[in-house]
Amino acid sequence: MIQDEGLASRAAVLEEIAAEVRQCTLCDLHRGRTHAVPGEGPPDARVMFIGEGPGREEDEQGRPFVGPAGRYLNALLQRAGLVREEVFITNIVKCRPPGNREPTPTEVEACRSYLDGQIACLRPHIICLLGRPATATLLDPSATMGKIHGSPISKDGFTYIPMYHPAAALHNQRLAPVLTEDFTRLGLLLRRLLAEE
Ligand code: URA
Repeated sequence: MIQDEGLASRAAVLEEIAAEVRQCTLCDLHRGRTHAVPGEGPPDARVMFIGEGPGREEDEQGRPFVGPAGRYLNALLQRAGLVREEVFITNIVKCRPPGNREPTPTEVEACRSYLDGQIACLRPHIICLLGRPATATLLDPSATMGKIHGSPISKDGFTYIPMYHPAAALHNQRLAPVLTEDFTRLGLLLRRLLAEE
């Protein structure tokens, strides 16, 4: 019962953040949006995925990772023994950058409190950082994906795993087996953490 109340209040906090995101005018990205994309997933998600920013289809639907990179992410989740409905998926910026360009530091900074709020609310076992911008924002601005992808890194009480962005593997087939292996390792780590709970 107490656990249920905790979950309900976490769900309420996540919905509050989402409502704020949908009204947000803190940076210029709001001018071009069809829909803001706060992120989605259950309040008891053990794993969180953080991408770069919504693309065209995400902007149209108001949901994260629903375009080609999202379909690929769904397949990768299976490699980790996960299904989309049990993980929380969001981005470092919640509105689509024009032409899918990388978000600017000002845009990332303006959006930061929403992301921090989501992380603090969920307190996930593992936070997967999809791509260099998410890795630079949450872990290390000078990180090189080729060097740090796939390995867990502890920081501020959280376990982060930087990974190549699924869209990168759609453009460069050589990254596909790397992502597959990293998601397989994610599944192993998660099962180990759950066994220790
Ligand atoms: N790429 C991202 O980084 N995020 C999305 O939501 C979709 C594609």
